[in-house]
Amino acid sequence: MNIVVMGSGAIGSLFGALLSTKHTVTLIGRHDHVHAIKTDGLRIHGKTEVVVRPSVAKSIKEVYPLIDLLLFTVKSYDTLIASRQLALHIDEQTPILSLQNGLGNVEKISRFIPQRQILAGVTTHGSIFPKPGTIYHTGFGDTTIGEIHGKTTGRVQQICDTFNEVGITTTISKNIVAALWEKSIINSSINPLTAFFQCKNGSLLQNPLLESIVERVCEESTAIAQTNGFPPSSQNMVQKTKQVICETAHNQSSMLQSIQKGKRTEIDAINGKLVEVGKKHHVETTLNELLLYLVKSRVPST
Ligand SMILES: NC(=O)c1ccc[n+]([C@@H]2O[C@H](COP(=O)([O-])OP(=O)(O)OC[C@H]3O[C@@H](n4cnc5c(N)ncnc54)[C@H](OP(=O)(O)O)[C@@H]3O)[C@@H](O)[C@H]2O)c1
Repeated sequence: MNIVVMGSGAIGSLFGALLSTKHTVTLIGRHDHVHAIKTDGLRIHGKTEVVVRPSVAKSIKEVYPLIDLLLFTVKSYDTLIASRQLALHIDEQTPILSLQNGLGNVEKISRFIPQRQILAGVTTHGSIFPKPGTIYHTGFGDTTIGEIHGKTTGRVQQICDTFNEVGITTTISKNIVAALWEKSIINSSINPLTAFFQCKNGSLLQNPLLESIVERVCEESTAIAQTNGFPPSSQNMVQKTKQVICETAHNQSSMLQSIQKGKRTEIDAINGKLVEVGKKHHVETTLNELLLYLVKSRVPST
């Protein structure tokens, strides 16, 4: 397959590196990363140890437009700009798979690209981007992908098989939208608290007061999600969130990492989107709104 990764940072470069062991892969990324890969190859350390030499580009304009699969892995706040760039150059048959966290990414991409081209996925792999040309694979995880309409099409099956063949353990979901909501509820209850208190995920369960805040945020986020028909039981989501905290106890959340680097966070696509949906449906949003403001007060606003 001819695979292109739009937004080659931590997760895009990891997936691109693994896929490049069996496929033709082009990573679209920023100047320094592209230059480092051209010079020394892409080095993956940690849970995966490999050095690969995929093609690289700084823009979709440099890439041959007949692409079999485009992985879309920019942060949620870059979605509109990246989608606009793609729309001018990408073939109308190319499937675009978003592996982004947060709510509203598919809707943003579909402002520029027909929704029938877009698929979504969630992954629990962990990776960080310590320096250009180098990615650190912090944890193996599972990946779930699906068509937005939920049917198992030939193309989603092909992507699933392609991922599994290179060691990215993947299953197909008939309700990927629900999976995106579920991950957003969990992230809304973990990421802003770790970012504000500058702590690892596990600390949230070591303090009974913080644990109680996690539970209450999770219940509020779940009630908001229920206005969109998902998920049915808030008790279940609190348990799932605590399970994720235990499994990732030693991790620094992506939101905490962004704040430590002085970069923007995905708070708008997570708690911000929940506040927006909650207000529209006249559901309580106080805790999500508070976390939104606390995190936004710590990072640049542009
Ligand atoms: N990392 C993980 O473990 C993980 C796991 C699951 C899901 N995710 C999700 O995957 C998405 C990406 O996360 P990430 O951690 O991989 O972020 P990241 O390391 O910031 O990677 C995104 C990369 O895309 C670049 N970029 C942005 N717009 C671009 C454009 N128009 N053209 C070329 N390059 C562009 C960014 O450059 P600049 O930084 O210079 O803007 C950055 O290097 C997020 O939604 C995240 O929540 C991440």
